[in-house]
Amino acid sequence: MIFSRLSPLLRMPFVANLSLDALLKMDAETAHRATITALCLGLAPEQDHADPKELQVSLCGLDLPNPIGMAAGFDKNGEVPKPLARMGFGMIEVGTVTPRPQAGNPKPRLFRIPEVGGVINRMGFNNEGHEAVLARLKGTRVGAILGVNIGANKDSEDFVADYVLGVERFSSLADYLTVNISSPNTPGLRNLQAEDALARLLEAVLKARSKAAVRVPVFLKIAPDLDEKAMDGIARTVLATDLDGLIVSNTTISRDTVTNLTNAGEAGGLSGKPLFNLATQRLAQMRQRVGTLPIIGVGGIDSPATALAKFEAGANAVQLYSALVFGGFDMLDRLKRGLAASVRAAGKTNISELSGRATDDWAAGKLSL
Ligand SMILES: Cc1cc2nc3c(=O)[nH]c(=O)nc-3n(C[C@H](O)[C@H](O)[C@H](O)COP(=O)(O)O)c2cc1C
Repeated sequence: MIFSRLSPLLRMPFVANLSLDALLKMDAETAHRATITALCLGLAPEQDHADPKELQVSLCGLDLPNPIGMAAGFDKNGEVPKPLARMGFGMIEVGTVTPRPQAGNPKPRLFRIPEVGGVINRMGFNNEGHEAVLARLKGTRVGAILGVNIGANKDSEDFVADYVLGVERFSSLADYLTVNISSPNTPGLRNLQAEDALARLLEAVLKARSKAAVRVPVFLKIAPDLDEKAMDGIARTVLATDLDGLIVSNTTISRDTVTNLTNAGEAGGLSGKPLFNLATQRLAQMRQRVGTLPIIGVGGIDSPATALAKFEAGANAVQLYSALVFGGFDMLDRLKRGLAASVRAAGKTNISELSGRATDDWAAGKLSL
């Protein structure tokens, strides 16, 4: 799904078959699997230079060589964090992982919207489960910050207990954990965003964290499909706990930005370019509500300008996934160069100094890209 036109790997016969053009002709899930397989085989481009110092950031005590991460869902089973780190991601979030393995929804369940660089997925947390992922990641020296995104099994009788298990199992291994309550593809999961349910969930999760040998930072990943009242409730609840940060946002169930386009009628969560403005507005609106709490901005980043806008809206770090489907891994280097140039053009020395300088305008819906 994601190989680069310019990669030196294209000179190698095996990967020649995996050019971006070829991947885009395949069914989306087949292309994704082919990409993971190629990465497992070590057929990945590698960054051959250090990151610019303007991009080094600290997030919840974690030192990131650069603030650009691979979002959850690309490497659900922790198969390729090392090659992704060598490629130059500052953080890699594996998962979502559920306690027991599950197959996810019937195929097809992953669709491109090529006209606008969008993706719709209804994967449904297909993953190999805690045990398998734990065994794979144990002892792996990733070379970048490793996040583990935890979730609940679809048929679980107790969603909260599933998250607690995730904390217990992964807190000694992960650099941070993400509590994902915002996938639209597990019925009932997003109800955990309601104030009372969220308070109970966070109490249980953070209690489990406090018992672990290492204090692992915990992020909460939220949906973009929230109104002002729902955002107020989340902010109030989160600020009453010692949660470490937010990830804004997951995919949207809205189709306003893709009406009548290819695959727009498919059920699932929409990501990529058509999510950008909504996710960035929600990020800014949450920034207004949570003060200096760390926020990772996700949703629709596909260029240096969109990455910069996430910081200006209030992000401390960013992640992406869908744009790599259409643009290839070369995008990572372009994003880094562009962000570093923006820092210098603003007369600053670090990307963190640009964070939040347009929060109010993004929150009010005055800006869009
Ligand atoms: C195919 C696919 C699978 C995803 N799976 C997960 C997942 O398991 N857990 C999760 O928290 N987010 C998942 N996401 C959401 C992404 O992590 C991200 O929040 C969203 O796609 C917006 O970023 P983007 O526009 O850069 O893709 C998935 C996204 C896609 C496209």
